[in-house]
Amino acid sequence: MSIADLSGKIPNNVDIKSDRRLQRALESWQPKFIDWWKEMGPEGFQADEIYLRTAISVDRDGWANFGHVTMPEYRWGIFLSDRVGDRTIPFGDHMGEPAWQTVPGEYRNMLRRIIVTQADTEPASVEQQRLLGQTAPSLYDMRNLFQVNVEEGRHLWAMVYLLQTYFGRDGREEADDLLQRRSGNADKPRILTTFNDPVEEWLSFFMFTTFTDRDGKFQLQALAQSGFDPLSRTCRFMLTEEAHHMFVGETGIQRVIQRTCEVMAEVGPDVAAVRAAGAVDLETIQKYLNLWFSSSVDLFGGERSSNAATFFATGLKGRYMEEQNYTDHVALEGHYDLPIVRGDRLSSEEVPLRNAMNEILRDDYVDDCENTVRRWNKVLEKAGRSERLYLANRRFNRRVGEYASGEFGEVRFNPQGELISEHEWTSSSAQWLPSQADQDFVKSLMHPVTEPGKIAGWIAPPKKGINKQDFEYEYVRHPES
Ligand SMILES: [Fe+2]
Ligand SMILES: [Fe+2]
Repeated sequence: MSIADLSGKIPNNVDIKSDRRLQRALESWQPKFIDWWKEMGPEGFQADEIYLRTAISVDRDGWANFGHVTMPEYRWGIFLSDRVGDRTIPFGDHMGEPAWQTVPGEYRNMLRRIIVTQADTEPASVEQQRLLGQTAPSLYDMRNLFQVNVEEGRHLWAMVYLLQTYFGRDGREEADDLLQRRSGNADKPRILTTFNDPVEEWLSFFMFTTFTDRDGKFQLQALAQSGFDPLSRTCRFMLTEEAHHMFVGETGIQRVIQRTCEVMAEVGPDVAAVRAAGAVDLETIQKYLNLWFSSSVDLFGGERSSNAATFFATGLKGRYMEEQNYTDHVALEGHYDLPIVRGDRLSSEEVPLRNAMNEILRDDYVDDCENTVRRWNKVLEKAGRSERLYLANRRFNRRVGEYASGEFGEVRFNPQGELISEHEWTSSSAQWLPSQADQDFVKSLMHPVTEPGKIAGWIAPPKKGINKQDFEYEYVRHPES
């Protein structure tokens, strides 16, 4: 792509035209991105025309333009939310100073690490989801999957823009490395564990977009507070897209539950009967919920964290709704009462507030997840069922932090958050997490449905289509058809 083409083809509000250095960096990176997309993006469907939303500006009419487009031709853009005049750093040791428009030298490495860690999740999720198009339950769902995928691609662009514009040569190297790592690859894995876990069927996809994309929402919210203004503005715009990803997940599971209720009304609640009728039994839905919630909870990091304290002190990463939800933005006084494992019991420890920033963000995340499960339970309630889904305690099934290992090694918790023995864990965990047989069953349901207006038997159709179109709309067009 020539430089003249670049600024035309990349919708942006960062004035690519007049930034020669950025032009050169993008000119070299863009073809590598397309190569990565073709190799690691959705398998198949690259020649199909997908009804996608493209952002061409940040204002109300500009950020949601719909039309059929092939994925490699998608116009990945670079957008920052509008600058807030005279913005000051809203928290930490530099509170009240003007927000940084360039990288604060003393925090350069830390800031780059924060950006790279966020950036790495974006291509990772595209890689995790790359086979799902082949088993989409409807064209509507296939379109939603690809919308999520291209937007995660755009989120990568957003972070690469920051690396290339503000971090010079090592930023450019990091941008290249983001296209080198591979989800689930033993030699060059993605940075965070959850983003190396396979997402092989749609029940996991909907749980992932509910719980893992929601982690994204909270990380982006915390970074939207950042004293480094370009990061703040980038994240604020990304949040508009993230909302759709969580919508896809939450309504996806809602529709699975809806279908299960319909089937239970016919054949009764017996697991074998529900499965024989081609729906996902509620116990299995609960197990997948447990798996993806616990995995996503890990993404917030350790409960006691000196890194988190430093990120807050330096003004690089704040809390959820820092300005609206808190009055003390310095957080040098007070503490967080953290339950920790002492011997064979839980006891409370006072953690200095700044060191508990991961846990404070996790609190808001857990609340948000509670609300989601409440809405899922409304479906059961409306169908006149007495069964309910629940959100496991955050201590359940952890691989990171205080609840993964205590002072004497590994620790285990049940979904109620009670400390249990290794023996109890081994004998009960198959009731809480998907067994191989559960996974095989869920996979056995995954047959593609590609006729417009038709849908697989394990999920109900959506109440409405996308952008005021009907569910029957041809969201994906095959070139020959
Ligand atoms: Fe994202
Ligand atoms: Fe997302």
